[in-house]
Amino acid sequence: MNYAEILEKIYNELEPTLGEGSVANYIPELGKVTPDQLGISVCTNEGDEYTIGNAERLFSIQSISKVFSFALAYKLEKENLWKRLGREPSGNRFDSLVLLENENGIPRNPFINAGALVVTDILLQHFDNPLDEVLSFVRSISGNPNIVINRNVQESEISCADRNYALAHFMKSYNNINSNVDHLIKTYSGLCAIEMTTVDLARSFRLFSTSGCNPWTHERVLTTSQNKRINAVMMTCGLYNAVGDFAYRVGIPAKSGVGGGIVGVIPNEMSIAVWSPALDETGNSLLGIKAMEMFTTLSEKSIY
Ligand code: DON
Repeated sequence: MNYAEILEKIYNELEPTLGEGSVANYIPELGKVTPDQLGISVCTNEGDEYTIGNAERLFSIQSISKVFSFALAYKLEKENLWKRLGREPSGNRFDSLVLLENENGIPRNPFINAGALVVTDILLQHFDNPLDEVLSFVRSISGNPNIVINRNVQESEISCADRNYALAHFMKSYNNINSNVDHLIKTYSGLCAIEMTTVDLARSFRLFSTSGCNPWTHERVLTTSQNKRINAVMMTCGLYNAVGDFAYRVGIPAKSGVGGGIVGVIPNEMSIAVWSPALDETGNSLLGIKAMEMFTTLSEKSIY
């Protein structure tokens, strides 16, 4: 399979539409990003890498960080994690409050904002500094020791975090948040403000395509069962209320973020990361989804 040719075909076809959609401006710092950019990076389990476009440009990974936090919390809590979280798609926007009251403050899954706040709360119970722990995990699986948090983005997000504050306080009223809410939001916003490139993301997601082993050291990080389950939750909940359409069009476990990144796993074969900052109405990268759809179509690789 000539992946370099496939990436070129995707880029050439999407180039005339660069900039369609709109960047996430509800976080002021993200609203400053130039929309007409597209980068794609593929890493095979054999270690071959293919890139095109703005593949090496740093961007805010936002909700993609929820996969890293969830993997760490799941390793720590194992099946106990599910006492405080569900694993069903919500069918609602990522920042929705609507289901929480009927469901007693238990978020539907770890990838909507409510669920990621619970996961962050769990990390705060285990670690003095969860930001350092997640960063060192991400650096180790991506093989890049220079990955950092963009503090301007973190501050910008904290300054407009009313919905996340509302979610956290509401869950606290059900005793499903233990930490101080200010500290929780600061930590959660720091995780969302981690910056990576598509190359970093594709490399780090080889953890999930190689059944839970660190791609560089080959050391086992997750059991094969934990890895299967993380991929399953990405498949069913990774793109919020667009997850059904994404499964239909693309057909791989993946996670998106409002920074315009999407990273997916073709189990036992490869990982693929795309970035294009302009989003569709569900908060997912418009060209990113198109690029992923073209990739699985042209390569005839999906899990179905
Ligand atoms: O909490 C928020 O709203 C953002 N930091 C993350 C949202 C996000 O990336 C959802 N993704 N599509």
